[in-house]
This record gives sequence, structure tokens and C-alpha cells, in this order.
Amino acid sequence: MASIRVVALCLVSFQFLVCVIEGIPITITNNCPYTVWPGSQANQGSPQLSKTGFELSSQKSDSVDVPAKWSGKFWARTGCSNNNGMFSCATADCGNHVECSGAGEATPASLMEFTVDTNGDHDTYDVSNVDGFNIPSSITPQGGTGTCKVASCPANINAACPNDLQFKSSDGSVVGCKSACVAYGKPKYCCSGPQHNTSQTCPPSNYSQFFSKQCPNAYSYAYDDNKGTFTCSKPTAYAIKLCP
Ligand SMILES: *[C@@H]1O[C@H](CO)[C@@H](O)[C@H](O)[C@H]1NC(C)=O
Ligand SMILES: *[C@@H]1O[C@H](CO)[C@@H](O)[C@H](O)[C@H]1NC(C)=O
Repeated sequence: MASIRVVALCLVSFQFLVCVIEGIPITITNNCPYTVWPGSQANQGSPQLSKTGFELSSQKSDSVDVPAKWSGKFWARTGCSNNNGMFSCATADCGNHVECSGAGEATPASLMEFTVDTNGDHDTYDVSNVDGFNIPSSITPQGGTGTCKVASCPANINAACPNDLQFKSSDGSVVGCKSACVAYGKPKYCCSGPQHNTSQTCPPSNYSQFFSKQCPNAYSYAYDDNKGTFTCSKPTAYAIKLCP
């Protein structure tokens, strides 16, 4: 079976004069009752996508192709507005433009992270609250074989956020929930520095346990033992849902 598959790929590759499999689409659906502005950033060594930021109204979907081998992340900005040509967002801003063009997001932000490797063993993906939370989300791989479970943080953590982690917009409403690393910057929360940079020396904190309780299928801190459990071999697409 494997060799038949390879032959099929070779015929396709002769036709297009290149020996790579095309990338796969990631479709983002906004089920939130408000407009969001998704953004993406490729990790070092991967190209930025054709769209790195766009507006997505409530109940709308849009998709972007990722290359056969790509790693990077998506997030969703909320509360954006354009004042005298200056675009800015209440959460997860990437620098005053709708297109993020390689720029990362302001914290706190829920992250949807991917390492896609169409020709490799498997992809990995996750929903992360390591840099805090701003919007409920899920990632569902489509097709593919292996574990392929849904990564998600469907809870609205903003509503349950402890006082000391709350991130408020100018009108005082809680629009994000910082991780303890973002709020306090301490090595024991960030799993950084010589004393806390391994899974053994960076156990969960009471703060990361709060995130983990709210969203067991998302990463709650850098050495969360969820790590590595979200894998799927050769999915044909991914669906990201916001407010799943
Ligand atoms: C942790 O920090 C020490 C000291 O800076 C360093 O030697 C070691 O490689 C680090 N370990 C990891 C896993 O980053
Ligand atoms: C975590 O523990 C600290 C004291 O060690 C306390 O001030 C804080 O409120 C606790 N936070 C949560 C979310 O339980």
C-alpha cells in the first residue's frame, strides 16, 4: 500500500515538476457573537502565510493554506477598532495593522499552535494558555490517522479569572486572563532560569492548576504533561473554532 501511495505522489509530482505535497488548509470559524481578527505567525525557519491577519465576523469562516512543512501559531484579536487610520485591539494586538506580517501577539492571548509535517511521522498541535487566555477555541484535525484528538479550551476563562490575573479593557471589563508567567514573570511560573527549566523542576502551580481545571485539553503552563498528546498523522485539513 505504501509503495502505491508513493507512486501516486510521484505521478502528481511529474505533472507539476516539483516533488512536494501541497500544503493543507486551516479553516477558522468564528462562532463567537462578536467580530474577531485572527492573526498568525510562523516560527523561525517557516515562511509567513499568505494571510497573516484578517477580520472575521460572527458566524463566518475563512481559510488559509499552510505549507506541507510548517510550524507556527494562530490567535484571535478582540475588540479591534480603527481610529484615524490607527488599528488597535483590546487583546492580542500584533502592532497596529490588520495583517500581522511576522509580528507576534500581545499577551494575554489564547494560542493555537501547529507543527505540520505532511511528509513526516505526524503533526502536533495544541491550544495553549501558557501566555494566558483571551478567547475560547478548539482545533479539530480532519482526516488523518492516529490519536487526532480535539485540542480545546471551550470555557470562558475571562469570567472565572482570579483578580490578580485579570486583564481589563479601557471600560473595565475583563477581556483576558493572564497566565502567572505573564502576570508575575517569575522563573517558577515561566519554567525559566537554571532552577526551573525542566519538567522536574517546574511543577504545576496553583495558577496553572486553575487553567488546567477550566480547560483540561489545553496547555496550562510550559511543562504541562499534556505536552505531546495532540498528534495526528497526515490530516487533510484543520478546523479552528473560536467559541466552539
Ligand atoms: C537549564 O539551565 C541550565 C543553566 O543555565 C542549563 O545548563 C541547562 O541546559 C538548561 N536546561 C534546559 C532544559 O534548558
Ligand atoms: C495561589 O497562591 C497564592 C499564595 O501562595 C495566592 O496568593 C493566590 O491567590 C493563589 N491563586 C490561585 C488562583 O489559587
